[in-house]
Amino acid sequence: MSEWIVVCQVTDIPKLGARVVKESGKDDIAVFRTETDQVFALTDRCPHKGGPLSQGIVYGENVACPLHNWQISLSSGEACAPDEGCAGKHPVKVEGGTVYLLRQVTA
Ligand code: FES
Repeated sequence: MSEWIVVCQVTDIPKLGARVVKESGKDDIAVFRTETDQVFALTDRCPHKGGPLSQGIVYGENVACPLHNWQISLSSGEACAPDEGCAGKHPVKVEGGTVYLLRQVTA
């Protein structure tokens, strides 16, 4: 079963930055905000060597990993060619300025 959980307001996420959502026993999730206030969520682990994508710089619909500068697509989680790999993508939505993340919940 899954449900939408409230993360924060869009304005709580720095433009071109991210906010980290922690959950015990799972990888952190980075929730990104673009220049145009689009919001995306990826597992906060670069597919290269696990760099914290939440500390990268957002440009367009990509984020540059802070460790070795791989470019990761925010919409797919895929590394941009010639690099290969994928950070997990998580469903996220914005309603009335509030950011929600779809999470699995155990009954
Ligand atoms: S860990 Fe992200 S580019 Fe190397």
